[in-house]
Amino acid sequence: MAYDTVEEFRSKRDAAVSFILEQTDFQPEYLLILGTGLGQLAEEIEAEIVISYKDIPHFPVSTVESHAGKLIFGHLGGKPVVAMQGRFHYYEGYTMQQIVFPVRVAKALGAQTLVVSNACGGLNPNFSRGDVMLINDHINFLGDNPLIGPNDDELGPRFPDMSEPYTERLIETAETVALDNAIKLHQGVYLATSGPMLETKAEYRFMRQLGADVVGMSTVPEVIAAVHMGLDVLGVSVITDECFPDALEPVSLDDVLEAAAKAEPKMTQIIIGVLERL
Ligand code: HPA
Repeated sequence: MAYDTVEEFRSKRDAAVSFILEQTDFQPEYLLILGTGLGQLAEEIEAEIVISYKDIPHFPVSTVESHAGKLIFGHLGGKPVVAMQGRFHYYEGYTMQQIVFPVRVAKALGAQTLVVSNACGGLNPNFSRGDVMLINDHINFLGDNPLIGPNDDELGPRFPDMSEPYTERLIETAETVALDNAIKLHQGVYLATSGPMLETKAEYRFMRQLGADVVGMSTVPEVIAAVHMGLDVLGVSVITDECFPDALEPVSLDDVLEAAAKAEPKMTQIIIGVLERL
């Protein structure tokens, strides 16, 4: 459900922000959202303070076992970050407003940039399991949108521009980091679908024809909220399974987690490398 009023949203956000400010005066410039199987990047953060989602007023709590539920405040690549270890998916039953609530809170705490990672299926036949892709555009196929409902004009416009949701300067920086570290890095379009089931062959064929390079069940709501508030965005995907309709193999969650874990060092290097250079 969308918020009934802007005041309802603000009072919930402000309660969460006040609670966090009672624990710490740490000011993050970057919000990191760590996706499926990629939570280990959190280990690299020189943490100042860790806060459980369950303690923060109005914060959703993750239901997926492969996700922890913590906000980690600290330094990564020399930059002040807050990392979400564990994110919220539409298929868990959260509203779009709940899914993007942490992004709204991070902005209120000072974040100017969102760095978001995810696991996804590869539709582009040039992509292999374990490859990494920078998201350069997206297709919102979720059938819902976090901006529906009253618009808080202090946060952003009613009709936000989406001509460059993924910041070109950050994409270029990530490309340089990948080149310097000899990491193969693709770029492409991420299509978000609700899940939780994986797609049929006919659906993969359809999504490829729509212009998508990868498909996943997250990221787009958070990016929409970030763009709405004027944040810069870097999106990085790990391809955990190959969704080629003419050669489709069954995929288990274990396969997805294994591929994500294998690709994690590349993802970590790219994200830390980008933060160091900014
Ligand atoms: N489809 C949707 N989401 C996914 C997939 C997929 O094949 N793999 C990992 N996340």
